[in-house]
Amino acid sequence: MKDSILIVRNLKVSYKLRGGIIRAVRGVSFKLMESESLCIVGESGCGKSTLGLAISLSLPPNALIEEGEILVNGANILKVNPASVRGRLVSLIPQDVGAALSSLNTVGEIFNDVLSPIRSSKEDSYRIASSILESLGFSDPYRILKSYPHELSGGMLQRVLIALALSLNPKIIVADEPTSMVDASLRKDIVDLIRAIRSKYNVTTIIITHDIAISPSLCDITAIMYAGKIVEIGPSRSIVENPLHPYAIMLLKSIPRIKRTVRLKPIPGLPPDLSSPIKGCPFAPRCPNVIGDICNNIEPREYRLGDRLAYCHIYSGELHGTVPN
Ligand SMILES: Nc1ncnc2c1ncn2[C@@H]1O[C@H](COP(=O)(O)OP(=O)(O)OP(=O)(O)O)[C@@H](O)[C@H]1O
Ligand code: SF4
Ligand SMILES: [Mg+2]
Repeated sequence: MKDSILIVRNLKVSYKLRGGIIRAVRGVSFKLMESESLCIVGESGCGKSTLGLAISLSLPPNALIEEGEILVNGANILKVNPASVRGRLVSLIPQDVGAALSSLNTVGEIFNDVLSPIRSSKEDSYRIASSILESLGFSDPYRILKSYPHELSGGMLQRVLIALALSLNPKIIVADEPTSMVDASLRKDIVDLIRAIRSKYNVTTIIITHDIAISPSLCDITAIMYAGKIVEIGPSRSIVENPLHPYAIMLLKSIPRIKRTVRLKPIPGLPPDLSSPIKGCPFAPRCPNVIGDICNNIEPREYRLGDRLAYCHIYSGELHGTVPN
């Protein structure tokens, strides 16, 4: 049996602000096998990027890892020099494409910098970079290397970022909303490209997306996050076809899907404020299946349901909640 390449154990990440603290990731655990792919899905502000930034050791300076472990091939990457991990073991394709690339440097200069741990000269870095760019569909990679980021289209920039993330041959790539900055016509190309690099580079991928409907076409596994926690995780197709957690069910009913005839139902209410303590289930104020005192006071534990894990009191044998439909 294959070993896990990535184990995230009880990860808690906060942001320090002048007026307080935001608990953005409040105890996340999951495992991934080599070359497996995971989609992380959830509403804005639920902690998806924070989780991705923590795994790729790219958190901003005001972030604090309060608890937990991130094991890559069995070693806790939170305990080693980040420079030996970032880009080499775990690499990030950031959410904000525009901000990720300095407008003062050509793409070639940016590659030269990123490749500094392995290249022998500028020519060497151009050679490595052009071969990756070519493998990602650029027919004239040297022209791209001589260009400044603002001279490239959104789709080209997205592919340059994917190439940069691959350049040190990482084991794991985190792509934060890789299709959000490109127009609808290019989305399928980016999705196809990410699927292709998974098999070509044998890389484990974590893809952060708002769009749960695309997860079966992109990822083996889907984790649904709510208020800094995973609420359901399992094979993507099972989750999209038969979600079990009330939030996952409502999320799927709230998004437009092809071949869908029933009306969309937005989820009423708002997620909790992550700067205040949360008691009980964080979804309780919005949940149609809430079981009074229990949900309001006790945090749900994990329940294994076939191929899935769901965090909801309904699945406790002792309680008589209504299983959602
Ligand atoms: N640098 C920061 N300093 C303070 N708070 C932050 C910072 N970055 C994110 N947050 C807060 O942490 C919480 C989680 O944010 P995060 O960006 O991880 O969510 P997200 O799920 O990626 O949202 P989106 O879908 O909008 O990208 C939010 O409350 C957000 O406002
Ligand atoms: S634990 Fe309770 S409030 Fe939370 S999702 Fe389940 S039923 Fe709803
Ligand atoms: Mg985000």
